[in-house]
Amino acid sequence: MKGYVAPLCVAAFSAVLWLNLSAPDAGFNPQEVLATGRAITSRSWEFGTLVEALLEFHNHELTVFGSDPFPGGLIPQISDPSEVEGLAYAKSVIWINGTDLLVDGEGSAADPASLGTAALLLSHHDPRYLEAAERQAEYLMTKAKKFHVNVTHSAISHREDVPELWGDFIYMVPPFLAYHGVATQDLRFLDMAVLQCQLYDHVLRTGIELENGETCRGLWRHIVSDPPDLELGVCCSDPDVWLTSNAWAVAGMTRVLATILKWKPPPNSPVGQTEYDKFKANSRVVLADLIASMLQCTMAQAEDEGSGLLKNYLDGSSHRSAAWAYGDAAGTALMASAMYRLAVLLPETYGGSNAMEWAERNRRAVARHVHSGGRVSPVADVGHVPSKSPVSQTSEGQSMVLLMYSAWRACKEGTSWKAGLQRLTGWL
Ligand SMILES: *[C@@H]1O[C@H](CO)[C@@H](O)[C@H](O)[C@H]1NC(C)=O
Ligand SMILES: *[C@@H]1O[C@H](CO)[C@@H](O)[C@H](O)[C@H]1NC(C)=O
Repeated sequence: MKGYVAPLCVAAFSAVLWLNLSAPDAGFNPQEVLATGRAITSRSWEFGTLVEALLEFHNHELTVFGSDPFPGGLIPQISDPSEVEGLAYAKSVIWINGTDLLVDGEGSAADPASLGTAALLLSHHDPRYLEAAERQAEYLMTKAKKFHVNVTHSAISHREDVPELWGDFIYMVPPFLAYHGVATQDLRFLDMAVLQCQLYDHVLRTGIELENGETCRGLWRHIVSDPPDLELGVCCSDPDVWLTSNAWAVAGMTRVLATILKWKPPPNSPVGQTEYDKFKANSRVVLADLIASMLQCTMAQAEDEGSGLLKNYLDGSSHRSAAWAYGDAAGTALMASAMYRLAVLLPETYGGSNAMEWAERNRRAVARHVHSGGRVSPVADVGHVPSKSPVSQTSEGQSMVLLMYSAWRACKEGTSWKAGLQRLTGWL
């Protein structure tokens, strides 16, 4: 089965392109996008996203999208982080002085967790990073503010002052919890990663209106708080369907899915093989369903005509958010990146020409919005919630375009296909 993974994905591209491995041209220069992003990165989730973008760009094999991300059932052991740019960067920003969180989250216990995977990858180099990751994970599991979902369940709040669920959470927390579960061989964390995706969907899912007047249900409101109306001065309210937030959710769930599908507990693990296989099969269905609902509505919604980009808000043209539904290169890039990843992970669903053409069209639209020096615009303003006017650059926008580049490259080069075939036959 593994051997089929990339051929479908690769088949969407010409063989000539595929063989041209040295410098795949995505229509923009990823190094410039990266350099511009690095220079403007200063906040917790921006650090974590840039680190993930650096890892996927320079050290793809260390990420959950690599062909063998858990050799022998363990996370990779890296002794010298100076050889891994993403980890050298992470090391320079992660706090190891005993705080609950990996860095200051400005009122969010979730955003700092975006650095959690990198902290775990630094644990072999220095055990203080493992301890810091453990404090962050424990804080989220036990101490963080909870949002009451129903009589049996509560979700982890994205913010600490009042219970709030933001779609953004799904990129910051579940990928870390799942990775932490693998690193510590503790199924509780993997379970929690999947459960949070379900609980967030339960609360945030809503309908959008398509051009033909039909309603599509599957995408999420940006933020729901408890109570729904916040006191003046408390961050933040946004009940509408924000592209970037939905892209965080789809891309985050894709990372969780990759982690779960690619891990195999080692023989001496406290996680039993049968128990894990059951968890894996169930999680695959749950995550694939959530992702499918979200992507289906995203693909069905009309794009911004002028720019060819996806719209900043997806509620539909008769909704009040239509007034600020300009084309957004950042959210478009992250959605496209998830689609390239899914083409490799779930080829039977996303390896076909429909999904690939959609991803390719969005990549080309994004490429047209990478300006000289690597600046990406227009992009959603992260300084205002709701995000009503585009800005000319953001750190996350730069990282999202880099994430798209790496996902596109991996899909196109069929790295997992080649690696899989190599393992099977040994002659490539
Ligand atoms: C930990 O280190 C950070 C960054 O150097 C600093 O801002 C923070 O106050 C320190 N916290 C504690 C509890 O020492
Ligand atoms: C609460 O919501 C979760 C997530 O959707 C669901 O799995 C669970 O069954 C619900 N519990 C009740 C009592 O409805």
